[in-house]
This record gives sequence, structure tokens and C-alpha cells, in this order.
Amino acid sequence: MSWKAEYTASIEHPETFWASKAADLPWYKSPQQILSKDENGIDRWFADGEMNTAYMALDYHVEQGRGEQTAIIYDSPVTDSKCRYTYSELRDLVARFAGVLKQQGVDKGDRVVIYMPMVPEALIAMLAVARLGAIHSVVFGGFAPHELAVRIDDAEPKVIVSASCGIEISKVIAYKPMLDEAISLAAHKPDACIILQRPQVTAELQPGRDLDWQEAMASAEPADCVPVKGSDPLYVLYTSGTTGKPKGVVRDNGGHAVALKYSMKAIYNIEPGEVFWAASDVGWVVGHSYIVYAPLLAGCTTIVYEGKPVRTPDAGAFWRVCAEYGVKAVFAAPTAFRAIKKEDPEALELAKYDLSRLECIFMAGERLDPPTYHWTVEKTGKPVIDHWWQTETGWAICGNLTGIERKETKPGSSTLPIPGYNICILDPAGVELPTGEQGSIALKLPLPPGCLPTVWGDFERFRSGYLSECPGYYITGDGGYIDEEGYVFIMGRTDDVINVAGHRLSTGEMEEIVASHPAVAECAVIGVGDALKGQVPVGLVLLKNGVELDESSLEKELVAMVRKEIGPIACFNRAIVVQRLPKTRSGKILRKILRQIADGKSYNVPSTIDDPASLSEIEQIMDGQGLITQS
Ligand code: COA
Ligand code: AMP
Repeated sequence: MSWKAEYTASIEHPETFWASKAADLPWYKSPQQILSKDENGIDRWFADGEMNTAYMALDYHVEQGRGEQTAIIYDSPVTDSKCRYTYSELRDLVARFAGVLKQQGVDKGDRVVIYMPMVPEALIAMLAVARLGAIHSVVFGGFAPHELAVRIDDAEPKVIVSASCGIEISKVIAYKPMLDEAISLAAHKPDACIILQRPQVTAELQPGRDLDWQEAMASAEPADCVPVKGSDPLYVLYTSGTTGKPKGVVRDNGGHAVALKYSMKAIYNIEPGEVFWAASDVGWVVGHSYIVYAPLLAGCTTIVYEGKPVRTPDAGAFWRVCAEYGVKAVFAAPTAFRAIKKEDPEALELAKYDLSRLECIFMAGERLDPPTYHWTVEKTGKPVIDHWWQTETGWAICGNLTGIERKETKPGSSTLPIPGYNICILDPAGVELPTGEQGSIALKLPLPPGCLPTVWGDFERFRSGYLSECPGYYITGDGGYIDEEGYVFIMGRTDDVINVAGHRLSTGEMEEIVASHPAVAECAVIGVGDALKGQVPVGLVLLKNGVELDESSLEKELVAMVRKEIGPIACFNRAIVVQRLPKTRSGKILRKILRQIADGKSYNVPSTIDDPASLSEIEQIMDGQGLITQS
């Protein structure tokens, strides 16, 4: 099979194509409606199929004789511990934890928020929620109480599952006080919290509300899988949009299972029984899809790694894990490899490990810069595959079908469209652009299985944010072009979203926080190039008239505010006071131009600009502060 044949079949006959992929999964009742419209007029896959994702990921494999195979390897250099769970063990733990949730009243369609570090219990909780036909919403541990509170209010969970602490290299971070603060900030209150006590910290439990994970498990009865429809939601995962309010990306059960199962062979070339490692966190979409669901749906072994690419204990950490467990394919953000390269430029650590079983390295989450690509290829001797995707899609939009036909790679490109994704480049008027011309990247509808059908509780936000700009297309928010051989080049976001160390953040949200400081009249937060993290946010701040203060104290206060509201993960460490910000005559800050200046790109001075001199002034300031990427 060639990429071309596979891709063409998916675009010309999508229903036939995806019906055949759906047949690879053990449905309770096979879908008859392959593609249909929901009440909002949105395309839905496998709406009438009956299934349970946790059954497909666990019980089915046990029934098929995979019970003794390792499902999860937990490797935690930060706690110096390792262990394994077979498919049978994992199924039993998941069934029992589903029983715990059921005892707390969790039913089909109810929400459960999970705020946990990288421990196997995070996966057990997710799969237990899925087993009950309920909906999980995992919140990344690096988010502050305020962010957690916003998500609690939006998802309105019946139960929250958390742990006493997370461990960041050698820092022990107590989660429970953050959870308590989040619950006190939120208007919605959960009925119960289930807390995993870790040896490093014992959390104080609130009588009547909080339960100890181990005690609850000891007295629970296992719960059975609850059948759901293909179009019923499996999870809500919040991601940064252009405003302070995160968007709850909804993932359905049916399309998700079909797309992920297909991707394991087609994209990653992984067969059942093989070891696949996504070095991410369950709090991100990569973690949902490729630490938890895809490897288990495909009957593989997945790795839960509680550590970093460096300093746990050294820059050989990734190579050690790959060698120790016979990882066939590893997937991480380019930042991780930049961190390894920075600490060990000659890859001396790599030489200590036998990487003969590692066949391929996949990267995503942010742009893979050519120097990192070349370094990784040169030092490992392995193919390095860049692939582009978003929380909204849940799996890759562009990539290289290594399990079907591995194409030549081009540094800077995430190769070719993945089957099901009809990619177009549009101009600002929504007209398709010819080969080689850069514009807004859009996906012609219908989207393939696995992509979001709505934003949780806010269909209008889904419609206005993605679909209404150009009818018939989904607007990705990324800009780029397609070359004469069909290779797709992603050039960056066209909105106020930035990617910091592979983490997606909203500059709009940071602006709202910075602007709330009493001394600040206005501000713009932009992403500037960073050698390690790809991008980091920097605030350009205009003070209120007559305010005089020490600029470095102000910077410290603003940094502390963003850290408190969003969390350390925001990496907001710089705020620069400026005298003017470039604006239109109607007073709108020209953020796009500020981004272009920071990226070292040329820009057109708009005719609507109020004061053209403000542009050269800001460019000089940014240059003086080292904020401009030299292209
Ligand atoms: N819980 C609590 N705090 C967390 C956290 C978590 N799960 N994850 C990160 N943080 C904190 C860090 O401790 C750090 O805090 P500090 O400012 O007090 O030091 C801050 O958030 C920023 O973290 P990070 O961006 O990870 O920077 P770092 O310097 O600690 O590590 C790298 C740098 C490159 C090693 C790290 O960013 C990395 O591993 N990147 C890969 C990213 C990735 O896998 N992304 C997944 C998308 S596919
Ligand atoms: P997230 O939703 O956190 O996965 O972030 C999605 C965004 O990350 C995309 O819209 C892109 O801007 C960026 N991104 C992800 N993968 C890539 C890639 N391979 N190349 C360039 N940008 C990427």
C-alpha cells in the first residue's frame, strides 16, 4: 500500500474507508451510521455504534489471551521506583476504581476531574471513568488553583480525583492544598474527592468530602463496563484559546477509538505486543491519546514516565528508558530533545545504551526546528518524524505513515496529510491558495474520526472559533504552506496562542492578568523565540499616566501574578515597560505585527496605524532586549 492510495481512498470514499477501520474494533453493536449529522449539523462518526472504550482497551485484550502481557510500565526516576501492570491487573484495578466512583454516585455522562501527577493511578482513574460511560477531564498538574477552578466550574464534576503530591525533579509539590484552594475558588463543588496518598506527602483529608484512594479501593466492588454510543463523549480536555477562558475540547468514544487504533499501525508502525512510549504527561492531549488510549486499544505496552529528559538524573534518561524496555518508537516534544542536546551536545550519554530496538523517533507539540531535527538524526541514526496536530484533532493531521509507506522527510515539514484530513491553504478571504503560497491552514469538512464535535457546553464557541470564518472548512489557527510535492510546512499560529516547551498557552489570558495590575494601563504579551523552550511569553507594558515605580519590582509583581493565576508552566518571566504600543486609529494594539517583529519577519505597515513611529520605536526596544529571533 502507498501513502497516495491510502490517502486518496480516505478522501474520495471516507465512509467506506473508516467503516473498514472501525471493523478492527470490538463493538458491542457495530455502527450502521458511519457518518451522520448531529443536532448542531456537525458531522459525526459511528453515532449509533455501541461500545465501551475501556472494554476495548482492556477487557477485550484479556479475553483474547493478552492478560499476562504488560500493559503499563511505570518508571519514576524522581521516586526511584519502577513497576509493571499486566492487562489483567490493570483491568481489575480499573474495574475496582470504577466501583469506587460508582459508590460516589458517578453515572453515565457525569464528569470526573482528574488532577494528578504521572503515576499509573492517573490512567486507572481515566479508564475507570470511561468504564462507567462517564466523562473525564484531566487537568495538568502544572496549572495553578485558579486554572483548576475555572475547569471545575466549566465541567461541573461530581467527583475529583487527585494525589497528595507531584514531584518535579527534586521538588515535592503538594497538590492537595492547591485542590482545596481551587474548590474554594470555584462556584461548583464536587460531592467527593478521592486522594491518592503518596509516601512523600500525606494530604489532610476533609471529613465527609475526601476519601483515601487505598481505603476506598479496599472496600469497593468491581463495576462492569457501561455501553455507550459512538457519539457519546469520552472526555473533555481544556486547551488554551485566545481568551482567558479555556476551551473544553470534547472527544467522543467511537471516532476516537477508531482513529487512534488506526494510527498505531499506520503512523507509528506499532503492532500489538510492542512497546510504545509517549514521553508527555497525561494532562496534555498527547498523553491522553498516546500514553493511555492508543497503545492500550492496540494491545501494546505503554510507559508512564515520571521524570524529565534531563536532570533525572542526566541527559541519558530518555535513552535509558528506550533501551531498558525495548521501546520501538518514542514520541516527545522537540523541547525535550533540545534540552538533551544542550546538556549533552556530543550525545555521550546516548553511547552508553543499546538502542537497537528503537526504530523511530516522533516529535510534535511545537515546530521541530531544523537544527534539533539534524542533531537527533545525526546522533541517534534513527529516522526522526515530525508530525503536526492539535488538542482539537486528538491525533496527527500531517505526518509520515511509517506503517504504510515511509516517505522521505524534509526538515521543517511535517510531511504529508494523514488519511482523512483534506488540507487547504486559504487567503484572508477564504479562497484556496496555490502551491507554495503561505496562508491559513484549513481542513475541508468532514473532519476524520477523532476530532472534536463541539466545545463543552458552548457549541457557539466551537462554531464561531473554528467553522464560521470559512463555511465548509475547519480553521486550524496555524499558518503555513504546501510545497509542489504536497509536503506541508507549519509556520506558526495565526492567533494569540503560543507554544512554550510544547505546552499550549494563551497570551490573551496572560494579558488579562497583567492588565489587572493597578499600575498597568495596557499591555501586549507576545511569544518570543527561546533556544530551549521554542517560545516564551514576554509582556510589553504601558503604565498609567503619572505612575512612577521601580520597573524591576513591577516585573517581579507581574511575574508572580501570572504564576499564581496560571501556574509555573506559563514561564512568564519578563515584563518590559514601554512608552507606547503600536495601535490602530481605533485603539487596537497591533499584536500581529508585534509577533512578526519578534519572529524576525517582515511586515506591512497597515494604513490604519495611528502613529507609524511607534512601530520603529518598539522594534528598537525589542531588539535592544534581545527579543527578536534572527531569521
Ligand atoms: N506539576 C507542577 N509543576 C510543574 C509541572 C507539573 N506537572 N510541570 C512543570 N512544572 C513547573 C516546573 O517545575 C517549572 O517550575 P519552576 O518555574 O518553579 O522551575 C515550571 O513549571 C516550568 O516547567 P518546564 O517548562 O517543564 O521547564 P523546566 O525548566 O522544568 O524543564 C524541560 C525544561 C525542557 C526539561 C521541560 O520543559 C520538558 O521536559 N519539556 C518537554 C515538554 C513536553 O513533554 N510536552 C508535552 C507536549 S507533547
Ligand atoms: P496542542 O493543542 O497543545 O497540541 O497545540 C497545538 C498547536 O501546537 C498547533 O496548533 C501548532 O501551533 C503547534 N504544533 C503542534 N505540533 C506541531 C508541529 N509538528 N509543527 C509545528 N507546530 C506544531
